[in-house]
Formats: sequence, structure tokens, C-alpha cells
Amino acid sequence: MMKINLVSDPVSRSVIAILILLLLIALSSFAFAHGKKAHNPDGKKSEHMQAMMAAKKDIPEEYRIMDRTPLMPTDDSLQQGEKFYLQNCSVCHGEKGDGKGPAASAMKTQPANFLETKHSAIYGPGEKYWIIANGIKKTGMPAFTQFAPTQRWSLVNYIYRLQKDSAETQ
Ligand code: HEC
Repeated sequence: MMKINLVSDPVSRSVIAILILLLLIALSSFAFAHGKKAHNPDGKKSEHMQAMMAAKKDIPEEYRIMDRTPLMPTDDSLQQGEKFYLQNCSVCHGEKGDGKGPAASAMKTQPANFLETKHSAIYGPGEKYWIIANGIKKTGMPAFTQFAPTQRWSLVNYIYRLQKDSAETQ
């Protein structure tokens, strides 16, 4: 009778080696999936923050990664920004940018208070620029399609100027 010795038979040996390898791969990917879950618990963000983060998803990446305005905040740019701001934005965002314009109390979502700088910084300069032209769905922030790019950047420059002015007077 032929006796097969599992360990010394070369074919069986490589089959066993492959099985062990597969088992190790399965185990390590299981551990990895588990580890990832443990390190990424569902954060409990406020509804408002969640809405802000959700709105960010609509903004194309090239605007999200911009960390400064490409238009220098010269006197001309700031004057233009101020003019457009007072004509179009202060009714909601307030003359000083505190979010308390005359139309604010009638709104379900309160207009952004630009002077809460940490909060406002959730949207970087490129994102503010995009938001002005596209609005923010569900919040009542309108889309202002009439502004040329330099006019929009002037508005963004002016928002940062309002923040700077308020930081200096505090
Ligand atoms: C009808 C009221 C209304 C008007 C007018 C309005 N906004 Fe808004 N704006 C809002 C609301 C509401 C939000 C959303 C607030 C939030 O999500 O916290 C918002 C959000 C924003 C944001 C994002 C928040 C931030 O801090 O970066 C920017 C930028 C902005 N507005 C700029 C402007 C500019 C510039 C104008 C004028 C051209 C303007 N808005 C006019 C209501 C308004």
C-alpha cells in the first residue's frame, strides 16, 4: 500500500504553504479593517457644522485648495469690494460683517457672521469666491452670477478686511 507523507511530499507541501499564506492575508486585512474603524469613530458634529462640511463637497477641488486671494487687496479692490458689499450683502451679513443685517432675523439659517473668524475659516478664500457665484443650497445664501471674477475677489478681499478691522478694534 502506498503511504503519502504529507510533509515530505513536495506538492502537498506547497499547497499547505499557499493555504497558510492565504490565511495570513485574510487575518491581516481583517485586523486592518477593524483598526481603521476603531480610529475613525463617528464624530458628533453639530448639525450646522455638518451642513457646512456637506456644502464643501459641492465646491470643486481647485477652489478648495486655494489658500489666498490672487488679487492684491489694494485700495481700489477694497473700495470696489465695499461698494458691492453694501449694495448686495450687508442686508443679510450686516455692514460690519457680523451677520446681523436687517433681513437676517427673517431667515431660517442665519447669514454667516464673518467676524467669527474660526467659523468663517471653514471656507477658505477660494471657497468664498466660489460660494459668492454659486450660493449655498438650502441656506438661503443666493448665487450672485452678475459679478466678474475680479469683482468677486474684491468682495472676498473686503470680507477679510472686515475681519481685520474687527480684530484691530477689539
Ligand atoms: C439673503 C441673505 C444673504 C445675502 C443677500 C448674502 N448672503 Fe452670504 N450667506 C447667507 C447665508 C444664510 C449663508 C450661510 C450661512 C451658514 O452656512 O452658516 C451665507 C454664507 C456666505 C458665505 C460663506 C460663509 C463664510 O463665512 O465664508 C460667504 C463667503 C458669503 N455668504 C458671502 C456673501 C457675499 C459676498 C454676499 C454679497 C455679494 C452675500 N453673501 C449675500 C445669506 C446671504
